[in-house]
Order: sequence, then structure tokens, then C-alpha cells
Amino acid sequence: MSTGNAENHSPRPESRSEPADRGEASGREKASGRREASGQEKASGRGGAAGRGAPPPLENRRAVVTGGSRGIGRAVGEELGRAGARVVLASRTRESVEAVASELRDEGLEAHGLPCDATDPSSVEELLQGAQDALGGIDILVNNAGRSSSAPLHRLSLEEWNDLLAVNATSTFLCTQAFLPEMVEQGWGRVVNLASVSGLRGGKYISAYAAAKHAVVGLTRSIALEVARSGVTVNAVCPGYVDTPMTDRSVARIVEKTGRSEDEARQALVEASPQGRIVEPKEVAHAVLSLCHPDARGVNGTTLVIDGGGLAG
Ligand SMILES: NC(=O)c1ccc[n+]([C@@H]2O[C@H](COP(=O)([O-])OP(=O)(O)OC[C@H]3O[C@@H](n4cnc5c(N)ncnc54)[C@H](OP(=O)(O)O)[C@@H]3O)[C@@H](O)[C@H]2O)c1
Repeated sequence: MSTGNAENHSPRPESRSEPADRGEASGREKASGRREASGQEKASGRGGAAGRGAPPPLENRRAVVTGGSRGIGRAVGEELGRAGARVVLASRTRESVEAVASELRDEGLEAHGLPCDATDPSSVEELLQGAQDALGGIDILVNNAGRSSSAPLHRLSLEEWNDLLAVNATSTFLCTQAFLPEMVEQGWGRVVNLASVSGLRGGKYISAYAAAKHAVVGLTRSIALEVARSGVTVNAVCPGYVDTPMTDRSVARIVEKTGRSEDEARQALVEASPQGRIVEPKEVAHAVLSLCHPDARGVNGTTLVIDGGGLAG
């Protein structure tokens, strides 16, 4: 069954947020006698491998994450920050992105919130300047800003087509074009683009979103080849449904168009996943972190699918 939505895979969220008490060991951790280091412990070098003297993998790397005010972008900012990176989060809404940055600072991480409309060249130039001022340079760019919608082709307006191409694909082009030269010049950099399973296959009623995400994948592969000898890598992650406000809006659209209950609509997304669940933002963030790791130097021009196996069949 097609859900007529952007990510034709996924699941029942086990929980959207982290456990309230990060210090408490889970049942499994208690049983094994292990406890994962909290974000603050990781940031401060206490606990886990860091506590045994290994520096965090992204120590002093400087990262910019677009669309960092909620959902996947927020989780990516947290993950990179806990891995030692100094982070700029950017989105159109200054208050929301600064609020997230403030929460990360409360955790002991370095985070800055900057306003940016990633579809606007002058706003992207301002972000570049602001990030330079805040961090002194850039090592990592995560092009995460994006939006989905659904409509059959005969109801898809030119305005909506242009907007989806702009926010998903043109934003990735503009930010990469702005931030890449410094990475190439310094001989180290990581660009990670948020594409989607819809960047690798089509789906009913999502022609504009799928076209935009296919563009992101093509851009990723082509730029990866351009910079392959520079020490910079360019990769894409391709999630199925992830438990974020964007998926909440997809569920609301299903409810509106089919008359199903919210639970039924969400269950339709769950059933589309071989794992029978919706991916958590932190899982995508972990995939982004793995691509940013210094040892991921040989991973270039790839698309990392995070959909519980949906594209495997
Ligand atoms: N959720 C999923 O199931 C899923 C699956 C596959 C791929 N993805 C992709 O993952 C990315 C993040 O998705 P999400 O689910 O986290 O979405 P979300 O919860 O709706 O968050 C989107 C983020 O992008 C920002 N944004 C939107 N337009 C922007 C613009 N023009 N310039 C700068 N920032 C902008 C938003 O902040 P402001 O509104 O403040 O600007 C917000 O921070 C998107 O590229 C999406 O296509 C999501």
C-alpha cells in the first residue's frame, strides 16, 4: 500500500526523546554492568573511551548544520557536539535555533544558533561569515534543511515544485558552494547531505520531493568526484521515515486525506518498514557522525540508507 508520502517506509516510535535522566542505566546496561557515557561526560572527556584518555573523534572540528532547530538537524548537532565538534546550528527562525544551541551549551557543548534561509544566496553568505566569526573556520557541513509534501502530479503547482526543489536541492548546492572552498584549501572536510530513500526511488504523489532528493544524490556523487583528491568527502544519508515534526505532518496529511485516525495513519508508516518501526533522529545523527569521522576518509560519494531494510527488497 502506498501511503502517498515522502518516505515510504517505517514505524512506531519507541520514544521521541532521550530518557529524562541520562545518568540512569537501562535494564540491559544494568544487566551487563555497562553504562553509556552521558553527553556531558562525553563532552568533558569523562566516561567511556574518552575517560580512558582517547580524545573525542571530532575534537575541535568546526561544524555547521542547516535545519538545526528541530528533528534530525537538532539530533545531528547534539551528536557532533558530543563527539567534540564545535557546532553552528542554522535555520530560518533565530529564536528556535538559538534555543537549541542554548540547550547544548547547558550540556557543556559549544554551540551557536544563527538564522539562515538556506535557499537564499545572500543569507547563505551571511551564514558563512557568521560561522567563520563564531568558529574561526569550517570543517564539516551538514546540509539538512528540507521539507516534504505530497500531491498527485495534476495537483502539483509550479510554486510548490519550485519550493521543494529550492529547500531540498538548491539549498544544498548553495551551502556546499559557499563552504567547500575552505575545506578543499585546508585539505580536510566532510560534507553530509540529507537526502532520503526518496532520492533513490520514486513514489506515488511525491514527484517533486523525490525529484529534489534525487537531485541531492546526483549533486553528492558529482561533487564527491570533483574533490576526491582534496581530503574532503561528500556523502548523503538516505533515511526512511524518521520520528520528527516532518513525519508528524505526513501523518496529519494521511489523516486529512483518508479519514483514518492518527494511530492508523502512523501504523501505515510502521507497516511499510521491514523492522516495523520508525527510525529515531539519533540513528540518523549517528550515521552522519560516522561519515564525519576522520577514519571515514575513504567513504566518498556514497548514499547511506537508514530505513530498516526497506530498500533491500
Ligand atoms: N523525517 C523524515 O522522515 C525524513 C526522512 C528522510 C529524509 N528527511 C530529510 O531530513 C531533513 C530534516 O528533516 P526533519 O524530519 O528533521 O524535518 P523538520 O523536523 O521539519 O525540520 C526541518 C528543519 O529545516 C529547517 N528549515 C526549513 N526550511 C529551511 C530553509 N529554507 N533554510 C534553513 N532551514 C530550513 C527548519 O527550521 P525553520 O523552520 O526554523 O527554518 C527545521 O530546523 C530534511 O532534508 C528531510 O527531507 C527526513
